[in-house]
Amino acid sequence: MIHVLKGKKILLGITGSIAAYKSIYLVRLLVKAGAEVKVIMTPAAADFVSSLTLSTLSHHPVLVDMFDEQSWSNHVMLGRWADMMVIAPLSCNTLAKMSHGQCDNLLLAVYLSATCPVVVAPAMDEDMWRHPATKENIKKLESFGNKIIPVEKGELASGLFGDGRMAEPEEIARFITGNFFLTRQLANKKALVTAGPTYEAIDPVRFIGNHSSGKMGIAIARELYKRGADVTLVMGPSSIDFSANGIRLVRVTSANDMYKACHKIFDKMDIAVMSAAVADYTPVQKSSQKIKKKEDHLILELTKTKDILKSLGEKKKPGQVLVGFALETTNEKKYALEKLAKKNADMIVLNSLNDAGAGFGYDTNKITIFPKKGKEMKFDNKSKEEVAKDIVDTIIRLHYA
Ligand code: CTP
Repeated sequence: MIHVLKGKKILLGITGSIAAYKSIYLVRLLVKAGAEVKVIMTPAAADFVSSLTLSTLSHHPVLVDMFDEQSWSNHVMLGRWADMMVIAPLSCNTLAKMSHGQCDNLLLAVYLSATCPVVVAPAMDEDMWRHPATKENIKKLESFGNKIIPVEKGELASGLFGDGRMAEPEEIARFITGNFFLTRQLANKKALVTAGPTYEAIDPVRFIGNHSSGKMGIAIARELYKRGADVTLVMGPSSIDFSANGIRLVRVTSANDMYKACHKIFDKMDIAVMSAAVADYTPVQKSSQKIKKKEDHLILELTKTKDILKSLGEKKKPGQVLVGFALETTNEKKYALEKLAKKNADMIVLNSLNDAGAGFGYDTNKITIFPKKGKEMKFDNKSKEEVAKDIVDTIIRLHYA
């Protein structure tokens, strides 16, 4: 593992747990691997390990006090300075505070303002680990995009034997190098992803929409972020309450809003993945008052929306990678290839409504990728997270490998 972390900046947060003694060795391992390490402790952690040991090993002062003049002004900069924030051990108490956005010490202030990826290694007694409140809090952190290093089974501080031990420092160091830095092939790349449906207003209470959940686009945004890209997610009115540390979220309603949001930033993007189910038509007249029920028939006149993917394809510069989706029910391959050419995309991801478990609302999807250069690639039915991985792997293989 010699110097595999050369030039990487790691912020290590230590909380009040007996496993904190292992963090001393973790600092040593990370520094030996070439990383620059800064340590932040909660006040409770200071009861378990000495800041003198940690500052000596990390070659930086250990930060604890939120209201110390230097720390206070630094808490935002620290989260930006770091390539990664690792909280090990993560106590039950700090886990609960993180999941609720509480901010009563420096470590929590830095966590809440961190724009870098966050990895946590929990440590607690088995019964605390198994409590539904802890399970909920862990799930919340995962939904924020934080990575959890699984606890291990073994002897616990209580003398009992079971789940809840913090992973060994070597394992945490392996996780950091293997799962994170070595897979950040898109570091320094900017990516735009669209997701969800659009709503086209008929009057103040009614709209034309579709069943898109936004799950596929969210999974793609997360996967691009995991690989190191700076990600902006432009999302239509999905019912998913998405939030993730580090991914910029722009909420829009109509196809026209989405068009404007995408065009505003496209020039700066390296990659754009258009996975939203954009309405193709919108009412010509949007009534400012609720339309009252009068006649037996009501005719709505619709007009075409602007095609976002096509318009981005027209202004695409060399080096920008544009990915579109095609949702088809018949002549799938023919239509997908037509879209690839017509919209000047580099790749079309086809999902057919004829495939079981694919498309709107499902947690799974079955895709075929049609790249501009090269042969079509068929994939099995998989979870949307795994599908996102296949799409991002293909982008990397064809454009950045
Ligand atoms: N798309 C877009 N803007 C629109 C309509 C579609 O950016 N106004 C994008 C979608 O995000 C998707 C791709 O175009 O990436 C294909 O969408 P789809 O609805 O399958 O194709 P359409 O071009 O709308 O053609 P049709 O509905 O006739 O199949």
